[in-house]
Amino acid sequence: MEPTLPKIGLGTMGIEDPDTIARAIELGYHHLDTAQIYENEDVVGEGIARADVSREELTVATKVWADNLAPEDVRSSAEASLDRLGLDFVELLYVHRPIEAYDPGATLPEFDSLREDGLIEHVGLSNFSIDQLEEAREILAGPIAAHQVEMHPLYGQRELLEYARTARHTLVAYSPLAQGAVFELPEIREVAEERGVSEAEVSLAWLTAKDGVVTIPKASSEEHLEANLAGAGLELTAEERERIEGIEEERKLFE
Ligand SMILES: NC(=O)c1ccc[n+]([C@@H]2O[C@H](COP(=O)([O-])OP(=O)(O)OC[C@H]3O[C@@H](n4cnc5c(N)ncnc54)[C@H](OP(=O)(O)O)[C@@H]3O)[C@@H](O)[C@H]2O)c1
Repeated sequence: MEPTLPKIGLGTMGIEDPDTIARAIELGYHHLDTAQIYENEDVVGEGIARADVSREELTVATKVWADNLAPEDVRSSAEASLDRLGLDFVELLYVHRPIEAYDPGATLPEFDSLREDGLIEHVGLSNFSIDQLEEAREILAGPIAAHQVEMHPLYGQRELLEYARTARHTLVAYSPLAQGAVFELPEIREVAEERGVSEAEVSLAWLTAKDGVVTIPKASSEEHLEANLAGAGLELTAEERERIEGIEEERKLFE
């Protein structure tokens, strides 16, 4: 079954305080995104334990880092992630990047087997090209639930979005604020000023208006957490969305 990911989740890269996670969950962030390489799965787990929201309401996603993708390492490293999170299973486990020990024919069947054994509910991929997605789809026994990629007004990912809609997986937009770089864009500034909202809200509203896209901004202050939730609830007009769509500058943070 397809997971229904909320339009907005919490990116946790760099969050080291479990109370930030707990507060975010209580404010309404029910999709939490972490990774082995962030070295904060224990923080996220502690936040989940502290929050006054039941486990069933949450979607927890983590990612197997590139050096754990050899077939003999996938299961043990996923089990170690679960231990750090303090959970019996996660809803979503990603291949973080198809590099280093990633060997599609050997790595991906291990993800299938984690799903069959109930340690994960869904398989996700991150930072894949269309060719790599095609190859993975042929190898995996089960569906790809989500593809997580960098996506924001400076990098619209039109081809991967079209592909995601055809292949019927959710596109999870990471670094949706380009770590602040989108705040300087005149098109974003204008819409924000006209609306009387922040640039972050406009950027997130533009992303979440897209069918098949969900996003995971990272925020640590209460003010940012609340603004970003409001952004996911803000409806832009078609004209405003087109203005942002028309931004010609391209900038990508991650290779
Ligand atoms: N799969 C991958 O390879 C990959 C790669 C990168 C990131 N990710 C995921 O995507 C998540 C988000 O990406 P990111 O952390 O790179 O960047 P981001 O979400 O684009 O930006 C985060 C930065 O923006 C600030 N911010 C958040 N909300 C704001 C607001 N309303 N107004 C002003 N500033 C605001 C945050 O500050 P404060 O913290 O001070 O609030 C933080 O400095 C990560 O945490 C991670 O979960 C995945």
